[in-house]
Amino acid sequence: MQLIRAKPCNLEPLNKIKTSDMVAISTLSIHAADESHRVSDVTPPINISTTYRYDSDPAKLKTASEIDGLGDDVVYSRLSHHNGVLVEETIGAITKSEAVIYSSGLGAFNAAMAHLNPKKLFIGQAYHGCHGIADIMTRNYGLKQLSLSEEDLKLIEEGDLIHIETPVNPNSWCFDIQKFADLAHEKGAKLLVDSTFAPLQDPFEFGADMVMHSATKYFGGHSDLLAGLLLTKDKEVKKALQLDRVYLGTNIGNLEASLLFRSLKTFELRVKAQSASAEIIAKHLQEKKESLPKLLEVHHSSLQSEAFVAAQLKGIHSPTFSIIVDSAETARLLPSKLKYFYHATSLGGAESLIEWRCMSDVTAPPGLLRISVGLENVDDLIGDLVTALE
Ligand SMILES: Cc1ncc(COP(=O)(O)O)c(C=O)c1O
Repeated sequence: MQLIRAKPCNLEPLNKIKTSDMVAISTLSIHAADESHRVSDVTPPINISTTYRYDSDPAKLKTASEIDGLGDDVVYSRLSHHNGVLVEETIGAITKSEAVIYSSGLGAFNAAMAHLNPKKLFIGQAYHGCHGIADIMTRNYGLKQLSLSEEDLKLIEEGDLIHIETPVNPNSWCFDIQKFADLAHEKGAKLLVDSTFAPLQDPFEFGADMVMHSATKYFGGHSDLLAGLLLTKDKEVKKALQLDRVYLGTNIGNLEASLLFRSLKTFELRVKAQSASAEIIAKHLQEKKESLPKLLEVHHSSLQSEAFVAAQLKGIHSPTFSIIVDSAETARLLPSKLKYFYHATSLGGAESLIEWRCMSDVTAPPGLLRISVGLENVDDLIGDLVTALE
């Protein structure tokens, strides 16, 4: 039986873009996977199929030991599907690494822990969900957890893992990636960096062994999909992660992959615009603090002066930052006084969000509000925040 296909791609194959071509991120995010489009549609079709028909020619059938069902060799969507492949190819090109996509950021962290299987985990301030996963591992398998204090880091040994988040949730302060990479590597340990808050930074440049992102945030960018990412420089590690993902059951869904592929086309544009606005707003609030008695502190990497911050972020600060106001009551009220900020958790979307953070994070101080800057006009956002704080 002849399979009836969507209009096949009978165009001349586009010249393959190589990451070594030094092509800019904005171009790669649109064209890096051109060669893998299966049909001539400019926007690749949404595939919702969970399963794929085998070849109708019995002579071409292979056994399970001959096919892995990964990549474009599709068998079943938990293993791999076309839009997931397009997403991995594109993100791999723009991050100059091997990308593995997951159904959420925490799915990615869980997969990193399963793959690296550390003897001890050194973890400090980080997304509360990553602590939650580490706690499950401690409860079930006795994983030893230590902090990032100098005292604790003296105990690092081969086979251990340091996990840092930089800039860190919720206040967007940066940690020195190179310092932690050196500490880990001196002892044969590894460094995992959660780069969610600065999606354009390259932690590999400073020695990270693996990078994770909640792609729900800036890669997705529209508050309409959940996804996670692990990045590695090693093709073998990518393969091992993809094989583990089959049994962890955490591949990205087909529909989410289509949405994410759409989002990638505006990735750099969005992040740069949101980052520029966040820096302007954070600095403006910091300068106006004296005239705004309810505003006690502004936390953002653009207000840090250490040399490593400039080296890591290259002027593209996190589009998310936080403020501390004078009381829990002010923090509870402030979101209701704003016109252009939705009161909601999460970050990275086109619309600005503010969150009284202790509503979703038990470790947050009572006066902390986290602000995710969207794509609205920056003067409108400043006017809105200042009026509410006044
Ligand atoms: C820094 C950071 N890492 C990881 C996660 C988890 O990502 P997800 O919600 O996609 O599982 C989040 C979510 O807010 C986050 O902010």
